[in-house]
Order: sequence, then C-alpha cells, then structure tokens
Amino acid sequence: MNHQTQIGIVGAGPAGLILSHLLRLEGIDSVVLESRSREEIESTVRAGVLEQGTVDLLVHMGLGARMIREGAVHHGIHLRFAGYTHRIDFATHADGRAITVYAQHEVIKDLVAARLATGGKILFGAKCTGVIGADGSKPTVCFTHEGREQTLHCDFIAGCDGYHGVARPAIAAAGRSDYVRIYPFGWFGILVEAPPSSDELIYAYHERGFALVSTRSPVLQRMYFQCDPKDNVDNWSDDRIWAELHTRLETKDGWKPITGKIIQKNIVGIRSFVTEPMQHGRLFLAGDAAHIVPPTGAKGLNLAAADVRVLSRGLVEFYRSGRTSTLDGYSATALRRVWRAEHFSWWMTSMLHRFPDGDKFQQRLQLSQLDYVCSSPAAAKTLAENYVGLAIG
Ligand code: FAD
Ligand code: DHB
Repeated sequence: MNHQTQIGIVGAGPAGLILSHLLRLEGIDSVVLESRSREEIESTVRAGVLEQGTVDLLVHMGLGARMIREGAVHHGIHLRFAGYTHRIDFATHADGRAITVYAQHEVIKDLVAARLATGGKILFGAKCTGVIGADGSKPTVCFTHEGREQTLHCDFIAGCDGYHGVARPAIAAAGRSDYVRIYPFGWFGILVEAPPSSDELIYAYHERGFALVSTRSPVLQRMYFQCDPKDNVDNWSDDRIWAELHTRLETKDGWKPITGKIIQKNIVGIRSFVTEPMQHGRLFLAGDAAHIVPPTGAKGLNLAAADVRVLSRGLVEFYRSGRTSTLDGYSATALRRVWRAEHFSWWMTSMLHRFPDGDKFQQRLQLSQLDYVCSSPAAAKTLAENYVGLAIG
C-alpha cells in the first residue's frame, strides 16, 4: 500500500511526537511510523528531568496541564561527596529558572493522546526498513505494517527513530562523521514504592561509584547507581541494591535513603555520540538518532525537543514562503546546542563517576572539582545554567 504525507516521521519518541504536534499547529500534515505498540512506548521508563525550555514548549503546544499538575518543580540540586551535601541553587545561579521532574513516558502519554484526539496519524507496529530518495524531491519511507510491505511518500522525512533506528544509516557513512565515546560503566536504575528520600535530586560521588536519587511522585521514587555495564540485574537482590545505595549515599549526619518495594530494575550502557551533519537532502535527523549523551546531565530528551523546535521552524518557513534558509542551517543550528550538552554531560559524568583505571590522583582531582563547584559562585553558575538549559538555537 502507498501512503502520502507532507512530513514522514520515523519514531514516536519525544522527538517524533513533538514534531508532529508543532507541525499540526501550523497546518502541516505528517504521519508518524512507530515500530512498537502504544502500550510499550507509554510504559518504557527513561528520563525524568525537563528543562524550563522543554516545559515552556509543551505548555505552548497546549500539553502542559497534567505536567503542571503532577510534575514537581525543583529550584536546585544537591551534590554529595565526602559525607556532606552541598546545594546548587538555581534562583541564585540560573536566574531563577527551574527544572520539572515528570517522567518521559508520562510526556509520551500526553503527546499520543492529544495527537490522536486531533486526528493525528500515528501507525503503531509500523517498522521502517529503509529511507530512499533523500536526494530527490519525493523521498520515501519503506515500512512493514500488519504483515505487509508499504511505502510513505513525503516532501521531507524526519528520522526520529533513536540510536538504533534506520534513518541515520540511510545517510552513507562517507557523507557523515561520527564522534563516539563509550564509558566503562553503566547505570543501574530502580523504581521504588516509597515516599521521596529528598525534596531535590541528589548527585553523589563516592569511591565505590556514582549514585543518584530522583523521584517520580509522592509514592514512587527513581534511583540510579553506577555499575558494570555487562552486569545483570539478576545478580542484584533488593538487599544488595539497598546496601550499595546506603554506602554510596550516607552522610556524616546520618542521612539514609527511604527504602521500599523495588518494582523495576534495569541496566543501561553509557555513551557519548554525535553524527554530523544531521541532515542529508530531504532527510533530517533529530534526537537520539543523531546524538546520545550520558544521562548524568539529564539532557537527552531536552535535546530531542530542541532539535525538532528548530526543524519545525525550517519546515514552516518552507511551506509559507518556499525559502529553505532555516532548513539549510538546521544541522549547524542544532549542533551548537548538541555540542554544549555533550560537553556538559561528559563533564558531569567525569566529575561524578569512578573510572576503573582511575587512581588516587584522579579521585583527588574529582573531589577538588566538586569542592570548587560548591564553593565558587562562578563554577556553580556554570553547572546551574547548563543544567537548567541554555538559550541556544
Ligand atoms: P527515542 O525516545 O529513542 O524514540 C525513538 C522511537 O523510534 C522509539 O519509540 C522506537 O521504538 C522507534 N523506532 C526505532 N526504530 C524504528 C524503526 N525502524 N521503525 C519505526 N520506529 C522505530 N533525557 C533527559 O532529557 N532528561 C533525563 O533526565 C534523562 N534521563 C535518562 C535516564 C536514562 C536511564 C536513559 C536511558 C535516558 C535518559 N534520558 C534523559 C535520555 C532520553 O530518554 C532520550 O534522549 C530520549 O528518549 C530521546 O528521544 P527520541 O525521540 O530522540 O528517541
Ligand atoms: C533522572 C535521570 C537522569 O539522567 C538525571 O540526570 C536525573 C534524573 C530521572 O530519571 O529521574
């Protein structure tokens, strides 16, 4: 079967769904192809931290009501090391901007429901197999849906299909440069039925490795700790997890995480990755399809949203005036923010994690850096303004 649309969007993650909404607001037609089911994308636990700019964008799109009601606005974070906690205050160091803790899959639920309610076309269970004709004027997405090979003919294609998708490989390796860093550790994530252990996020450095206390709701908490990326969740009993979190998080004044029933455990690998350019002909990459950051800076979802904000501006300009200057500059505009986030995420990761080859000298450097961030207003501002999100692009 052949389908037609103006913008073919591969992937119903934050990038694809936000793009589809932004285009609808401007009267531009799109079709979103998603390989997984609606239930699956609405239940996969990933990010939690939304920058002010992402929150503002969702509100502007008319999708802020539940996020404002149920999300938690945080005006600072805690850095914890050597048994003490230090607060980085956003009011002082980030001009009062804030972050909102609201789970990515809740954002996805809001986006899907609103898109379907306004007649949006999202095909679930539609697995894209390739992109052809990006150099021409009518590029095509090939996909399988309900057991049949189908095609979607478009004016433009947005590859929003994440790191393992098909859009990036559709740009010949000779036509792009990939920049990669793999870290020798992963993150073990848990969801816990318990009240919050802290009113704000805690990023902890410990000689046994990094730990992070986040939240989801008054009754559900999210925590992470650095682990071997090849480890298996089955090696970690609940008791062993709590013992590790206690060791890494406890302070001289006796703070302890509030424990509870662990209802989910998962391990993710950590990498930095950027492909340049993020466009080829009429194919544009956005979000994790083009770049990955280690989660320590809480930037991935926010970058995905920022990419498609720029891309939608270019597409709107094209359909209004026929001009392509914003579209032509898409990659350069997006990459400026991407590389800032790459640096910030690498820096946070380097400061807070234990490296297997890290000696006592490196540990002293990390502690010195943490001490500097917590005692110098200039260094605290660097962390805070990057964390809440810079106005780039
Ligand atoms: P994705 O969310 O990966 O969506 C891509 C979609 O494309 C998927 O639904 C996939 O099924 C679909 N797809 C793939 N291949 C195909 C195909 N061939 N055909 C059709 N569909 C396809 N970011 C933050 O901003 N803040 C945080 O606090 C944060 N914390 C994180 C914590 C963890 C543990 C992890 C793992 C990530 C975190 N992130 C965070 C990163 C964030 O989750 C990602 O950056 C974000 O999901 C990227 O969105 P996306 O739309 O680009 O890609
Ligand atoms: C969460 C994830 C992150 O990567 C981070 O830096 C902070 C919070 C979270 O899932 O809540």
